Amino acid sequence: MKFVSAHGATIPALGFGVFRMSDEEVERVVPAALEAGFRHFDTAQIYQNEAALGRALQTAGARREELFLTTKVWVDNYSPEKFVGSVDQSLEKLKVDRVDLLLLHWPADKVSIANQIEMLNAVHATGKTRFIGVSNQNVAQMQESIAKSAAPVITNQVEAHPYLDQTALAAAASAAGVAITAYFGMADGAVPRDPQLISIGQKYGKSAAQVALRWLIQKGFIALSKTAKPERVAENFAIFDFDLTDDDMGLIGTLARPDGRLVSPPGLAPEWDVQKS
Ligand SMILES: NC(=O)c1ccc[n+]([C@@H]2O[C@H](COP(=O)([O-])OP(=O)(O)OC[C@H]3O[C@@H](n4cnc5c(N)ncnc54)[C@H](OP(=O)(O)O)[C@@H]3O)[C@@H](O)[C@H]2O)c1
Repeated sequence: MKFVSAHGATIPALGFGVFRMSDEEVERVVPAALEAGFRHFDTAQIYQNEAALGRALQTAGARREELFLTTKVWVDNYSPEKFVGSVDQSLEKLKVDRVDLLLLHWPADKVSIANQIEMLNAVHATGKTRFIGVSNQNVAQMQESIAKSAAPVITNQVEAHPYLDQTALAAAASAAGVAITAYFGMADGAVPRDPQLISIGQKYGKSAAQVALRWLIQKGFIALSKTAKPERVAENFAIFDFDLTDDDMGLIGTLARPDGRLVSPPGLAPEWDVQKS
């Protein structure tokens, strides 16, 4: 496993996400993820499976000190009345005293970034999370978050895959020492079928999915991978025994396209930064 460092945090560069998974799927696949070597798990209040993840980790006998556990506060809880209570519920469901990383899930538009960051910092100050971060923020929002936050913002978790150019955001994050955490690495199923990624993978005996995850990691990102299929877990973890060449990296970078963004829910998503391609 590689690790990414950001403002004192050491984060496993490959994480296991449980978005769009039922409780049964979480409880079936998490033991396989632990067995394969995953220690970084990513959930969210809105996924409604924090309790299943907590149960699955406990039942499997995972050692808390080896885990890097992330959850995200949902936008409906961005108020002084609800924010802390929602985090308390998350901790109870996850069966932990604190998470490793707590994120603001989406910027939304009803509550100012300054207020969101203030509430996140208040939770951090109580020790209920080791680190804080944001998700789905554009460059300006991320820079405002960084400027207004007492505790360092260690990551911005955003959509990232070969079809989406995230150069501007990645440069701004890097300049501020903020790690990029990449979600939707499979581009909703397009990546595993991509002829160019399949062809690159053939040189290394790897699948297109593995090539894309490796590409994210070699860009210095933290990559999240999700599968509800236990038989795919080991495949997605086996990305630390080969190196993409500079030519491979460059070629994959050319797959970005203007309509590459897949996740942009109205009312939650910000005005995205202009894409290079
Ligand atoms: N912050 C946010 O707003 C946000 C948004 C979206 C996601 N996330 C996080 O990022 C994590 C990962 O993103 P994601 O769930 O969207 O999707 P993903 O990793 O891009 O996976 C998408 C789909 O690809 C399939 N897949 C996975 N590995 C594969 C392989 N080796 N070969 C072929 N197909 C494969 C999976 O289907 P099967 O399950 O059938 O294998 C999965 O449904 C989430 O679980 C969540 O933790 C965060």
